[in-house]
Amino acid sequence: MFQTVTPAPPDSILGLTEAFKQDPNPHKINLGVGVYKDASGNTPILASVKQAEERLLKAEKSKTYLPIEGPAAYNAAVQAMIFGAQHEIVAGKRAATAQAPGGTGALRMAADTLARLNPQTRVWLSDPTWPNHPSIFQAAGLAVLTYPYFDAKHNSVKFDAMLDALRGAQPGDVVVLHGCCHNPTGVDLTLEQWHAVGDVIAERNLLPLVDFAYQGFAEGLAEDAAGLLTLCRPGAELMIASSFSKNFGLYNERTGALTVVAGDAAAADAVLSHVKVAVRANFSNPPFHGGAIVSTVLGDPTLRAQWEQEVTAMRERINTMRSLFVETLNEKGVQQDFSFIARQRGMFSFSGLTPTQVKALRDDYAIYIVGSGRINVAGMSESSMDYLCSAIADVLARVPAE
Ligand code: LMR
Repeated sequence: MFQTVTPAPPDSILGLTEAFKQDPNPHKINLGVGVYKDASGNTPILASVKQAEERLLKAEKSKTYLPIEGPAAYNAAVQAMIFGAQHEIVAGKRAATAQAPGGTGALRMAADTLARLNPQTRVWLSDPTWPNHPSIFQAAGLAVLTYPYFDAKHNSVKFDAMLDALRGAQPGDVVVLHGCCHNPTGVDLTLEQWHAVGDVIAERNLLPLVDFAYQGFAEGLAEDAAGLLTLCRPGAELMIASSFSKNFGLYNERTGALTVVAGDAAAADAVLSHVKVAVRANFSNPPFHGGAIVSTVLGDPTLRAQWEQEVTAMRERINTMRSLFVETLNEKGVQQDFSFIARQRGMFSFSGLTPTQVKALRDDYAIYIVGSGRINVAGMSESSMDYLCSAIADVLARVPAE
């Protein structure tokens, strides 16, 4: 069985981290995977998270299984984060949530549920999108299509083309939207554009699936849900994949959730029963620790206030890195216009660096960037900025864009 197996290619994002770890260069910088770094280049455990963990350690009495869909307190906290606790969707019990191992797990549960409900379901992804999106939906056996999204020339959304493509979708097709901090481009829809997308979704009878992995990293926790909320119209259906990897720094605790919004409570429960079948067939029931941290922090006013400050600090630091990066490139005499990076939000920007330039940065300077040119701005720090920008200036001068 195994003698003739040829290796699969490394993952375009996590494979970079594997290579980065092997690299002996002391100046190496990993701007590949979306992980936040502080001024010392560390990925800290948030103080609110640490405190919640201490409480949990003391209070924990058993390690028995969680319910298939996860604890009710966690699921309620997730819904309050997305919609606000008073939203009609929450009050009317039109939403059902299941805890999932990370945003990826939530997306896979969405995909498996959609495949159970209709194996012919087609899924529309933005062009470009997170490279794992197509893999997740294809692994569930679903057909994947793309709608135009990024206009590289103007660093904006090709909005008319996007709407045209969605107008051509078939009723029942699923449209994956990035709730905020579009990965990989850093370019989001405006609120007006969200409304227009919501109109097409309603007219064409499409199902939106919002990948909500960066809440709090664009403008603020409530502000970042505003786009998604334009889709929450009376009776409207949608799915949301939440992740707490970034805003709680819980990367390795794999903490996320799938929320299904249906027309009424009975329909939401019926869909949840299929989500539970998908959960059972994949990982049986969710891991405890990450979800318990999230519900402990969100359920305690003091810890919550502390956490909100920590999210604000991370967001502001990323924005500082954006400005410093653009300034330092200018100081290094780089002619190419990178000013758009300072105007974008979230962890990522599409730098415009070409694959050969990305390769030169890796080979000559041990700077790791995703092949598409996506850079993780949240991975930059003051101490490495000079080295990073000198390297980019050198590569831009030496290696022509192909
Ligand atoms: C990223 O895009 O870098 C993150 O979402 C991490 C991942 O799993 O790829």
